[in-house]
Amino acid sequence: DSATKEGYDHFMLKEIYQQPEAVRNTLNRRLDENGEVYLEGVHLTKEMIESFNKIYIVACGTAYHAGLIGKSVLEKALKITVIADVASEFRYNDNLIDEQTLVIVVSQSGETADTLASLREAKAKGARILSITNVVGSAVARESDDLLYTWAGPEIAVASTKAYTTQLIAFYMLALYFGKLKGSLDAHSYKEHVIELQSIDDSIEDTISQSMEIAKEIAEEIKEAPSLFYLGRGLDYYTALEASLKLKELSYIHAEAFAAGELKHGTIALIEEGTPVITLATQDDIYEKTVSNIKSVKARGAYAIGITTHKHKDMEQVCDKVIYINTTTSTYMPLISVILTQLIAYYTSIAKGNDVDKPRNLAKSVTVE
Ligand code: G6P
Repeated sequence: DSATKEGYDHFMLKEIYQQPEAVRNTLNRRLDENGEVYLEGVHLTKEMIESFNKIYIVACGTAYHAGLIGKSVLEKALKITVIADVASEFRYNDNLIDEQTLVIVVSQSGETADTLASLREAKAKGARILSITNVVGSAVARESDDLLYTWAGPEIAVASTKAYTTQLIAFYMLALYFGKLKGSLDAHSYKEHVIELQSIDDSIEDTISQSMEIAKEIAEEIKEAPSLFYLGRGLDYYTALEASLKLKELSYIHAEAFAAGELKHGTIALIEEGTPVITLATQDDIYEKTVSNIKSVKARGAYAIGITTHKHKDMEQVCDKVIYINTTTSTYMPLISVILTQLIAYYTSIAKGNDVDKPRNLAKSVTVE
């Protein structure tokens, strides 16, 4: 029964544990026996994809953070400009939208007021609307031209977990599907990506069990901190945004995410003796640059926690604590690293005695503007 905790202390923990299955469902139902992606509800043709001059991705909260990862992977696969924006800004901006624009709307509930209004606004201007949603028959689903359901199942906890990871899967699949149709992704890389994705559920499962104890330990270390920073570059920056949102909403600790290279332009002034700084460094091509940012916060007294993969043992020389997580290709690391950050937020909330499933002041679905 999806409305019971089935022995878990909280819905959030149950939903964290459901992620391997949710990811498997979202992925496997759309791969045929030859490992080809087919997207039933997406009716875009090769000609239509070639005709788009840009793509907007519009969403709120956690869904927006999934959209940022989507921006990066779609841009790479399609070689066109992709802009991610929060719905409450997008809908009031003078966006350059026309019949050559694809707007991708992301919403777990499919009912968020600003997201729905953005969809309508873009549609009125002639854009094609593709939505990624978890609720069958929701308003967003009904009003879209193309539809990609995340098969996460009902998400009860206010803080989103499995909806987010399945939204990422949806974006990865779209990138493969569009990239192949357009011809901007060659057959060999396509195959490699599919193979990598097919084992990601197992990797997520391992990550959950391997992260429990360390997440509890970190929760104890950070629970009294007045303020905390998450840092990262590239995809790690987007994961950092999601990680800090999760920590804020559950622990009520002031947490902020920064692009690691941007910190020096002001925010580093906030680092004091003992300020926790958690850095995600899973992207190999920019790893060294991130390490140098860790050194600079460490030099100002930060308590530096690093999250990286096993090959980067040198991180121990610059951090107070290093957590090694499972490895996949850099593109798919957001699916792995976010799991640890969900658990850190979960256990910090418990350590502070907060209501994990229903944090103060928040609603699962926001239908006001
Ligand atoms: C609320 C929830 C968030 C969610 C956001 C967007 O603020 O608390 O967890 O990310 O709405 O919701 P949606 O259903 O549109 O994804």
